[in-house]
Amino acid sequence: MSFAERYGPWALVAGASEGVGAAYARAMAERGVNLILLARRQESLDLVAAAIRADTGVETRAVAVDLAEPAATATIVDATAGLEVGTVMYCAGADPNYQPFLANPVDVPLALVRRNCVVPMELCHHFAGPMADRGRGGIVLVSSAAALAGAPNMVAYGASKAFDLVMAEALWAELRDTGVNVLSAVLGVTDTPALRRLLARRGVLTGPDDAVPIPGAVTPDEVVNEVIVNLANGPTLFVGEQLRQASRRLRAMTRNEAVMAIMQQSGGVMADRTHAQAAP
Ligand SMILES: NC(=O)c1ccc[n+]([C@@H]2O[C@H](COP(=O)([O-])OP(=O)(O)OC[C@H]3O[C@@H](n4cnc5c(N)ncnc54)[C@H](OP(=O)(O)O)[C@@H]3O)[C@@H](O)[C@H]2O)c1
Repeated sequence: MSFAERYGPWALVAGASEGVGAAYARAMAERGVNLILLARRQESLDLVAAAIRADTGVETRAVAVDLAEPAATATIVDATAGLEVGTVMYCAGADPNYQPFLANPVDVPLALVRRNCVVPMELCHHFAGPMADRGRGGIVLVSSAAALAGAPNMVAYGASKAFDLVMAEALWAELRDTGVNVLSAVLGVTDTPALRRLLARRGVLTGPDDAVPIPGAVTPDEVVNEVIVNLANGPTLFVGEQLRQASRRLRAMTRNEAVMAIMQQSGGVMADRTHAQAAP
C-alpha cells in the first residue's frame, strides 16, 4: 500500500494555518494526500492551502472554525461529508495566555478544555470507526511536555495535554489490530509563530518577527519529519532529543519530585521579562 492509500485520500488537519499543523499538511500533500485544513483564520488557511495546492497539486478545503465553540464538531462533520478521511491530525492546542488559573474567568480554561479534549474526542469517535472498517488510517494527537507533570501557569493546558496523551495511548491499544495507527506526538519547545507571539508578549523577544533563536526549540519541520516516520510506531513519540532526555529524567523521579523540578525550571524560556525590562 502506498502512503496515500494507507493514510488518504483525505487528511483532516486541525490547526493548519501555521506552524506544525501547516508543515504537517504540506508533508501529507507531498505524499499525495488531499487536505481539509482547519483553523480560525480563513485568510491564513487560504494562503496555506493555495501554496500547497500550487506545489503539490492535491485538492484542499480550508474550513474556518473555532475549535473551542460547541458547534465545532458539527461544522467539521458537515464540511467532510462524503469525503474519505484517512488521517486526523489534531494539532491546535497551545495556550496563548500562560497565566495563573485564577487570573481569568473559568470560561477561559473551559474553552481550552473543549478545544483540546472534547473536540478531539468527538472527532476521533466520528472518524475512527470508518477508518477501522476500512482497515487503515492514522490519528495523531499533539501533546506536550506540559502533560508530564503539573506546573504553574499551565493548570488547564497541562491537564488537557495529559488527557490527549492518555486518550491517544488508549485508542492505540484499542485500534492496534484494526490497521489504524494512533500516535501521541509529545512536543517540547517548538519554534512556532504562536510561541513567538507569546514570547514577544512576555518581553522575551522584541516582537514575533524577532529573528533571535529560541533556545532548545525544534522546528515544525523537524517535528513533522519525526511524526511522519513514526506514524506506525505508537502509541507515544517524544519529539526531539532534548525532550527525550528530559522525559527520561522525569521518569526517574517520583511525581512529587517531578512537580518540584518543573516548578524550579518554570522560568526558563517562558520567563516574563516585561517587568525586568520596565525596571529602572
Ligand atoms: N510551540 C511549542 O513550544 C509547543 C510545545 C509543546 C507542545 N506544543 C503543541 O503543539 C501544537 C501547536 O502549537 P503552536 O505553538 O503552533 O500553537 P497553536 O496555538 O496550537 O497554533 C497552531 C494552530 O492551531 C490553530 N488554532 C489555535 N486555536 C484554535 C481554535 N480555537 N480553533 C481553531 N484553530 C485554532 C491556529 O490557527 P488560528 O490562530 O488561525 O486559529 C494554528 O493554525 C499544540 O497542540 C501545542 O500544545 C507546542
